[in-house]
Amino acid sequence: MAGREQAAQRVAALRHEIEQHNVRYYVYDEPSIPDAEYDRLMGELTALETEHPELVTPDSPTQRVGAAPLAEFGSVQHAVPMLSLGNGFDDEDVLAFDKRVGDTLRGAGLLGPAEAARYFCELKLDGLAITLRYEDGELVQAATRGDGQTGEDVTANIRTIKAIPLRLKGPAPEVLEVRGEVLMNRSDFERLNQKQAARDEKVFVNPRNAAAGSLRQLDPRVTAQRPLRFFAYSWGEVRGLPAGTPVVFDETGGAVRASSLPRDTHGGMLQWLAGLGLPVNVRFNHEAIGAEGLLAFYRRIGAERSGLPYDIDGVVYKVDALAAQRVLGFVARAPRWALAHKFPAEEAVTDLLGIEVQVGRTGAITPVARLKPVFVGGVTVTNATLHNEDEIRRKDVRVGDVVVVRRAGDVIPEVVGPVLERRAADFPLFVMPTECPVCGSAIERPEGETIARCTGGLFCPAQRKQTLLHAAGRKALDIEGLGEKLIDQLVDQGRLKTLADVFTLDAFELAALERMGKKSAENLVAAIEQARRPSLGRLLFALGIRHVGETTARDVARHFGNIEAIMQADEAALLEVPDVGPVVAGSIHRFFLEAHNRDVVHQLQQRGVQPQAEAQTQDGNLTGKTFVLTGTMPTWSRDEATRYILAAGGKVSGSVSKKTAYVVAGEEAGSKLVKAQELGVTILDEDGLKALLGQ
Ligand code: IVH
Repeated sequence: MAGREQAAQRVAALRHEIEQHNVRYYVYDEPSIPDAEYDRLMGELTALETEHPELVTPDSPTQRVGAAPLAEFGSVQHAVPMLSLGNGFDDEDVLAFDKRVGDTLRGAGLLGPAEAARYFCELKLDGLAITLRYEDGELVQAATRGDGQTGEDVTANIRTIKAIPLRLKGPAPEVLEVRGEVLMNRSDFERLNQKQAARDEKVFVNPRNAAAGSLRQLDPRVTAQRPLRFFAYSWGEVRGLPAGTPVVFDETGGAVRASSLPRDTHGGMLQWLAGLGLPVNVRFNHEAIGAEGLLAFYRRIGAERSGLPYDIDGVVYKVDALAAQRVLGFVARAPRWALAHKFPAEEAVTDLLGIEVQVGRTGAITPVARLKPVFVGGVTVTNATLHNEDEIRRKDVRVGDVVVVRRAGDVIPEVVGPVLERRAADFPLFVMPTECPVCGSAIERPEGETIARCTGGLFCPAQRKQTLLHAAGRKALDIEGLGEKLIDQLVDQGRLKTLADVFTLDAFELAALERMGKKSAENLVAAIEQARRPSLGRLLFALGIRHVGETTARDVARHFGNIEAIMQADEAALLEVPDVGPVVAGSIHRFFLEAHNRDVVHQLQQRGVQPQAEAQTQDGNLTGKTFVLTGTMPTWSRDEATRYILAAGGKVSGSVSKKTAYVVAGEEAGSKLVKAQELGVTILDEDGLKALLGQ
């Protein structure tokens, strides 16, 4: 147990730090640390205050939620306080919550001895809480939560949000306070940030901050330009309903004399709100029974999380029956009848130990952060991308900083920005090296481009390695066993200079390499042998020509039929290939103008590589139809499905648009499926696709 003196000092330090973060977060909408780190500081303070109750003061951050409102907005006293939610982090927390609820309700005779409690499950939307006051059906006031008692008057801004009705539908009560979340969709957020950057204006760290920043604009005309959304999930004061009179309860459990309030459950109330024209998240709201039902919801939403249109940081469970909610009541500022079950944090803080640069296949130089290992998004992260020089400048990230690292889903971890409060010294700015760290060639960054490149071309071992790795890849020559480690060794020994050298490797010399046995050497030679008869499209793709992806390579191969014709084609001839534009045509033409590239092709031919003509498009029933594949299909791989679709004359694209004819969605389909639903594109499963293909 910490000594009293020590505890008092730590409490003071924690309060000071939390207050600073509060101001940044609540007043300026600019969080300086991730939520998980903030929660950790609050947790430490709460624990110390529990241990030493005499240290608790009324102004401690544990005694209120958030900081004081901005002076420029009028303040609004909430008629019914706006509450917070208790948090749960693992299955045990959920089991304990359900047990507490069950015990209390059984004690009150509201639940049978063997009966499980009924809950209403919602998404925990990562936006900002808002209360809307309707009088006689008219929106008269809107306020932020503020400290729970007093919020900011943001009526003028809220009126600009199209999702929020200015007048309710149908017979309305005298007073209705609706509570919910204002948020921004991820796609809207990306677009907004692009616009902001183009105008040299502030870019936001995440959709929540963009939503909060947009709502806290003093000029409502600016808010009106921002793509804000709203979902209702609760209510405050409800008074004077039209005739008929069941009783409902407000957030604090106070009984509200209602007249024709139609439902006595939370779900029923939300339905009623939806009926009045308020947006309710009907797509995900869900009824569940007992802890098992809650956990099943949590897992399902966890799997869908990365594909949702907006950020969520957990799910919320609410006891459904309002009478049961009243019996359960409140602790401090949170209801005992609800629990926020949080997802693992996607952001964490750690030390930035260094910045190195990596050289990609086309020479692109990517600055990479070397980090003190940190657990984030479910894995330990030691490296994270810093994207490019401009990003480092924009974010003002410096070696020595404490930085915020983000890893969401399977996305590559990235450095979001520094925690400026923790910058210990005036660390120097990052400067892009002028020479390639691998080959020593000059690094150049053409005027107007964001990407710096090593000018060494295939002379640069890093580019050579990446080019070979690309050529051996599954979608190119598909040489199983020719991976990174092996390529590193062979390039470093000077044994592999070009792709053509791969076809001179023999089992004897391969077996002598590190980590290679006789058997794997023989397997690799067999794989190389198979790769001598690639389709023309795969060979073209394997050459790693800039801007030439798998589909373009196949289109070009189909059009010209053989490699000589492609090598001789000028830009005009290349432009005749459907879907090939000037950038691609120019890139292919320039590639084959280089003697060393033509040499590689000739050497490949001399070493027995014989590209096979690409299968011609059949005039099948799918001619001209574009497909998008997403998720995992039960039996077909995406490559297989792609082949069948192409063979039937269809096209396969990576992104969903209005022009997409079908989206084929498998298990764990993500944002593409959501987009397809939004656009009303026909969605098929594997069987549906097979039926379409006549299989
Ligand atoms: S209910 C009495 N439902 O989480 C309960 N809150 O940690 C009042 N939030 O201030 C809140 N999604 O900003 C509720 N489906 C949801 C929510 C939700 C997000 C936020 C809200 C609230 C905070 C509490």
